[in-house]
Amino acid sequence: MADLDDIRDGDNFGLNTPADTSKFYLKGMNSTDWGVKNRMSRIFNRKSGNTVMLAFDHGFLMGPTSGLERIDLNIDPLAEHADCLMGCRGSIRSMISPENTKPVCLRADTGTTILTELNHNVLLGEEEMISMNSSALAAMIAVGDAATEATTMANFSRLVDIGNKYSIPVMCVTAVGKDMARDSRYFQLAARVGAENGASIVKTYYTEGFENVVACTPVPIVIAGGKKLPEIEALEMAYNAIQAGAAGVDMGRNVFQSEAPLAMIKAVGGVVHEGLKPKEALDLFETEKNAS
Ligand code: 5RP
Repeated sequence: MADLDDIRDGDNFGLNTPADTSKFYLKGMNSTDWGVKNRMSRIFNRKSGNTVMLAFDHGFLMGPTSGLERIDLNIDPLAEHADCLMGCRGSIRSMISPENTKPVCLRADTGTTILTELNHNVLLGEEEMISMNSSALAAMIAVGDAATEATTMANFSRLVDIGNKYSIPVMCVTAVGKDMARDSRYFQLAARVGAENGASIVKTYYTEGFENVVACTPVPIVIAGGKKLPEIEALEMAYNAIQAGAAGVDMGRNVFQSEAPLAMIKAVGGVVHEGLKPKEALDLFETEKNAS
């Protein structure tokens, strides 16, 4: 029986003691098998330890959102500057070249759209996940949403079973409902729930106190970009997340809705892989934008 009247927030995150990565360069992966390590190595750069995942999975619930009207024109040209492509089976099959050699993180759940109630989702078939040659599988959990938490957690657990069967890492996408507080306390809970349920990667949102979110999550964390921000603010967010220990980004709108998406993904890459400061990355963005 959970003692709901005695939930004490953690406050000892051991921030000065890094996780043990002596057997593999990414945290939480020491005891995983060859297949998981090999796939994680395709996604996370060995030198920086980080990744720039390009997220374009929005269409399955939002339709042709701005910047994703034509994935063949919008996303395919950016692919070579991403470390991993995160999308849905339909758009990848129909609009991403099969000659693309970037690893795919397949959005493995689908369901209701913005026209009804979000997050009433189901999982794709297991065979489909394999046939897409997925290097990772992603599904969303709606922690704190009374209507959909149980369903999405059940989806996620089943996806981890499938991932473990085939040594495919599973990324937990932590959704934030309209009634959920976007603070460090909530993201600690949501990210940790994902990791406890078997995620190899957790996708969450940057917030104040992100060091604690990273510290209490035993696997690599990547941040979503969220709503479109001015380029300098998106670069600052990525920089702050990396400084706090994030292992990269899985960014969508702040790349493909930028006035210069190609320049933006290069600038984000500069922050994630080369440690560029936000102003340096903005200079890179401006240079690339003006050169195109
Ligand atoms: C939903 C998500 C989506 O997977 C999406 O990729 C978000 O990307 P961005 O916020 O960067 O546009 O995370 O919760």
